[in-house]
Amino acid sequence: MSFLQLDTSLPFKVADINLADFGIKEMALSENEMPGLMAIREKYGDKKPLKGLKITGSLHMTIQTAMLIDTLKELGADIRWASCNIFSTQDHSAAAIAKKGSAAVFAWKGENLEEYWWCTHQALIWPDNTGPDLIVDDGGDATLFIHYGVDIEKDPSLLDKEYDSEDMRCLVGRLKEVYTKDPKFWTNIASKVKGVSEETTTGVHRLYQLASENNLLFPAVNVNDAVTKSKFDNLYGCRESLADGIKRATDIMIAGKVVVVCGYGDVGKGCAESMRGFGARVMVTEIDPICALQALMQGYEVITMEKAVKMGDIFVSATGCCDVITGRHMEMMKDEAIICNIGHFDSEIEMSFLENNKDCIKENIKPQVDRWRLKSGKSIVVLAEGRLVNLGCATGHSSFVMSASFTNQCLAQIKLVSEKLEKQVYVLDKKLDEEVARLHLKRFDASLEKLTKKQADYLGVSVDGPFKPDFYRY
Ligand code: NAD
Ligand code: ADE
Repeated sequence: MSFLQLDTSLPFKVADINLADFGIKEMALSENEMPGLMAIREKYGDKKPLKGLKITGSLHMTIQTAMLIDTLKELGADIRWASCNIFSTQDHSAAAIAKKGSAAVFAWKGENLEEYWWCTHQALIWPDNTGPDLIVDDGGDATLFIHYGVDIEKDPSLLDKEYDSEDMRCLVGRLKEVYTKDPKFWTNIASKVKGVSEETTTGVHRLYQLASENNLLFPAVNVNDAVTKSKFDNLYGCRESLADGIKRATDIMIAGKVVVVCGYGDVGKGCAESMRGFGARVMVTEIDPICALQALMQGYEVITMEKAVKMGDIFVSATGCCDVITGRHMEMMKDEAIICNIGHFDSEIEMSFLENNKDCIKENIKPQVDRWRLKSGKSIVVLAEGRLVNLGCATGHSSFVMSASFTNQCLAQIKLVSEKLEKQVYVLDKKLDEEVARLHLKRFDASLEKLTKKQADYLGVSVDGPFKPDFYRY
């Protein structure tokens, strides 16, 4: 395997620096839609709570992320960034960040996996060979890089293991190179990390797993489970960006089609509502009886994949699980059925069935859209090679909803440096959640009722909030 050498002296690597002015203009346009981030700049810009701290970001390099990067920069941070998905970078956003010098950015749309892990590695190491104080992670790959590096230093036999996934082979290849030069490299890096703030459901699951095994090497903040993140980004974000991805990829008429949404969590709820809004007949698959009952109460049919495969025109996986849409399912689908995934990793659709099967023939229609002819003679259309369709085939969520998510990210980064934390997973205070919501209400000129002292006493809360107990589910 050819090996991409780490080069920490590189200021950036992007597809085309000439796209920077377009990116900068789109960033300016997003300011009005990102009131939370603008308020963070105003509140903390002078105080610089992240002054001198080195941040590694592994999160989709979009216009919205560029706005997050500039905000962290204004708070004083020294930043290096990579995307957390090979297809999600918007090249004009990466170029804008590179040209402004906001961060050393290593990201372009259409990386291969070796390049992807090189970019993440580049984002983790500074020119003086030190690592980050803080990490902004989305899905956990930057966290995994460091943790697996340390695991290998404890047990070098991991270097000789056979790995099923190409991702792990690329990662371990890089870690092997580091280990031969310095067998304590990642242990030293990890010992200086003050913490990670994690953006998404799947990354948060990984963190709780590490913590439960006592293997978490630094404190973590679960940003996903802020109400103003998962109940907005995952739900309302996907409600708009799923359709954007499907439409840009295929131009298909959704009305009248049968859409099968696999998983009815926050993302699945947004996807199902979106597809119904276009006039589709929506079916849901679930493993959790509570979510299944919720889907039924919304009027969706809840069935097994086994039955749904023969009826669906469009399949959307939104589970965070693996092998949700398998090769066997694909063989049973209607001709020209469209399949896509909006969950974090490419584990949900069994792409290996198509890629490693001589009876399956790929015809590339355009970037991130492939028609596969199957053994049966029927075809299916696969979007973004089974990776996040909203970021691979479109531009992800809109600025407004990302403003709420990223305001929580900024608050999480401040929490990591201003509080004494254990190597555990923390969530943000409810009061901060309410503050994030309040900042975004302003965009709509919405006005709230104000509790009187008597009313507050009656409810057993303070007049300034929090207004709900911690166990309340929104
Ligand atoms: P969630 O846990 O709320 O929902 C997942 C649902 O899938 C659960 O209800 C679970 O019971 C169900 N499920 C699990 N395995 C299943 C299976 N085999 N078949 C059917 N249903 C199954 O998680 P979420 O917040 O909705 O996130 C889902 C995924 O989307 C995660 O990977 C998350 O990281 C990702 N995500 C993507 C975006 C995006 O912009 N693309 C945004 C937010 C989250
Ligand atoms: N996740 C979903 N949409 C996104 C966006 N526009 N930018 C960054 N991360 C995202």
